[in-house]
Amino acid sequence: MQLFLVGAGPVGLVTAVGFARLGHHVTVSDIDRARIALLAEGRSPIFEPGLEEALRAEMAAGRLDVTTAGTPPAGTAYSIVCVGTPTGPEGPLSTRQVEEAVATLLATAPPDHVIVVRSTLPVEGPDRLARLVDAQRAEGPCAAVVTNPEFMREGAGLRDFDVPSRVVTGWLRPEDRAAAEAVADLYAPLNAPTLVADARSVALIKLASNVFLAAKIAFANELARLCDAVGADVDLVTAGVGMDDRIGSAFLSAGPGVGGSCLPEQALALPLLSARVGVPTPLIDAVSRSNISHQQAVAARLGTLLGRPLNGARIALLGLAFKAGTDDVRESPALALARELRAGGATVVGYDPRALETACRADPLLEVAPDPVTAARDADAVLVATEWPAFRTLDWTQIRAVLAGDLVYDTRNVVEVAAVRAAGLRLEVLGRRV
Ligand SMILES: NC(=O)c1ccc[n+]([C@@H]2O[C@H](COP(=O)([O-])OP(=O)(O)OC[C@H]3O[C@@H](n4cnc5c(N)ncnc54)[C@H](O)[C@@H]3O)[C@@H](O)[C@H]2O)c1
Repeated sequence: MQLFLVGAGPVGLVTAVGFARLGHHVTVSDIDRARIALLAEGRSPIFEPGLEEALRAEMAAGRLDVTTAGTPPAGTAYSIVCVGTPTGPEGPLSTRQVEEAVATLLATAPPDHVIVVRSTLPVEGPDRLARLVDAQRAEGPCAAVVTNPEFMREGAGLRDFDVPSRVVTGWLRPEDRAAAEAVADLYAPLNAPTLVADARSVALIKLASNVFLAAKIAFANELARLCDAVGADVDLVTAGVGMDDRIGSAFLSAGPGVGGSCLPEQALALPLLSARVGVPTPLIDAVSRSNISHQQAVAARLGTLLGRPLNGARIALLGLAFKAGTDDVRESPALALARELRAGGATVVGYDPRALETACRADPLLEVAPDPVTAARDADAVLVATEWPAFRTLDWTQIRAVLAGDLVYDTRNVVEVAAVRAAGLRLEVLGRRV
């Protein structure tokens, strides 16, 4: 089948490769010409494990091509909208890009075409799309619009496409249920549990899932600070808690905070919905506050461990991506820590194996270094903020030789304890007794 995919970000590219591997022909479109030019050369504009190789393979097989055209080639059955929903002046989850893309498609697509909105929508998003459909229908029969949120994790996107936890599709009007079922059928070869429902419920499924995940991480983070205070080990505590299959161990790892383009934004979006409809949701409202207070507490803890004022201190920040396996720094806790430390008067020098460029774009005030040893030069402490596997094998003797202080504060429990100690450094790990 011929598919048209709008928006070549992490979600769009993973979705394009996923459907191409299922045997469809996918044309990927983006308004960013530089991004399309890069893709045309077989290069991925974002780092996602295996993505560039997979894009090249699907292009070579003739199942994937790219364009800057905003409308699908003739004979396309489905357009899949994967444009961004960033925080805008109107708050989190702006539907501006989605509405523009859907309006363009509605104006040109034939009535038997289906527009699939894979971008994350706020709960009022489906009503906005329904108004666009109504306006178009006033002029004559037009394409159907179906929602189909993406649940992938960056860093494991391709696998999550191939083995999805579930496929959820939503109809704007009950008469579009057949179109929503047809979209769910596109994923039938993946044998995933499937749910077809009204698009408002579907939007809430997506938001509630992410806010629940953010709450689990925030819970583990608060436990880590409690563990520090009482001398317990958060890894043991969360392992024991997670053994209960009513709770589960996934997303119960303590770290420097919740990050990424989705979870923090949606932890803000859901309380705004509650406020708008006048429903008190104190538990949901607390998730974002917990995350912000955790990041402040981690920065303050570093200050305490340093044994000298933060003001004038130099900190080597290892890890800038919001998690390992990606170059995405959107809402990265590492960058939040950098800001917090700078506000306390420290100088921060960051290093990341993949995210140096994206971090510099996101935070022009951030100093960066090309490798961990250069970042550590003359620093009073090393702060580890992303769980890159490469940080397990750092040469701590080399780092010790250039470091001014002796503190390593690992917020991810990633460094090799014995190697840090053998280099004569003082190691502190968030929530753990090492
Ligand atoms: N990143 C994730 O891990 C993830 C996971 C699940 C869901 N989501 C959701 O999926 C959506 C996409 O996320 P992302 O991170 O891939 O977004 P992104 O912002 O990184 O990329 C979106 C792309 O769409 C392009 N674009 C914008 N308007 C366009 C238009 N009219 N025509 C063609 N291209 C256009 C942009 O140039 C950009 O390349 C968002 O709603 C996000 O919340 C993201």
